[in-house]
Amino acid sequence: MFLPFNFIRRRLGFVAIGVATLWLWCAPVAIAAPTDWPTGDRPEAQICTYDRRRFHRQTGIGKFYMGREIAKVIGHQDLFWLERPTREAEERPDVLLNLLKISQDDAIADLGAGTGFLTFRILDRLNEDGRVYAVDVEPESQDIIDFIADDRGETRVTTILSTPDDPKLPEGAIDLVFMLDAYHEFEYPCEMMQHVADSLVPGGRVVLVEYRRENPLIAIKTLHKMTERQAKKEMAAAGLRWVTTDETLPSQHVMVFARPTPGD
Ligand SMILES: C[S@@+](CC[C@H](N)C(=O)[O-])C[C@H]1O[C@@H](n2cnc3c(N)ncnc32)[C@H](O)[C@@H]1O
Repeated sequence: MFLPFNFIRRRLGFVAIGVATLWLWCAPVAIAAPTDWPTGDRPEAQICTYDRRRFHRQTGIGKFYMGREIAKVIGHQDLFWLERPTREAEERPDVLLNLLKISQDDAIADLGAGTGFLTFRILDRLNEDGRVYAVDVEPESQDIIDFIADDRGETRVTTILSTPDDPKLPEGAIDLVFMLDAYHEFEYPCEMMQHVADSLVPGGRVVLVEYRRENPLIAIKTLHKMTERQAKKEMAAAGLRWVTTDETLPSQHVMVFARPTPGD
């Protein structure tokens, strides 16, 4: 009895250090969120809370929001993936835009715009009073979209360089915020969505288009897909009301949320 007890006692220090290190690796990180909601329509701004986990998928950043690991960014360096010739048939952006009944003079944000795959397709649906805010965290995205816009003599697009936690959109001015294959990469999804909600006009819509994670046969990396259930949970945390989910597209959910209006 005496010998094993001493043996354990001598190693207690190592065990304690091990447990403390593990706890530090896995401890949740709480980041204060902005608290200045201009309209008072939405619930109190939450403190955004994330978990950091030491063991995680290679395609993720080891940071989790509401149980979902955030994916690594696929950005301008993957230009050939974003502009792949098969994408039109795979994602049917024409069908997507028909679904949404856009007004021709809408102010629309393409958040996580990348190479502008959707930006210019939206512009084709707008009249001279319509506007698209193409937002991305990578300056190269801004360069690409500005270049194409100049080339086409297009003046209805404004490129915005966001920060990882703020899309820098004008407040209370946007009719529709699009996030096509982008939201799952946002490093600060909670803060981003709080700003997005602020940017909407009352009743303004958020359209989240994500590959269906429920379906393992869809050949897209797991962290670059989302379940409808998870998306609803995360949008609700930003005070957005789920309106509808459309499953017409071959592989993606089209999930529509709205900023509540008084009386909702
Ligand atoms: C997979 S690409 C999709 C681009 C485009 N929506 C498309 O469908 O072709 C995701 C884009 O989101 C951008 N992104 C990632 N985090 C962002 C953030 N916090 N704010 C704005 N853009 C972000 C990336 O730089 C990248 O261009």
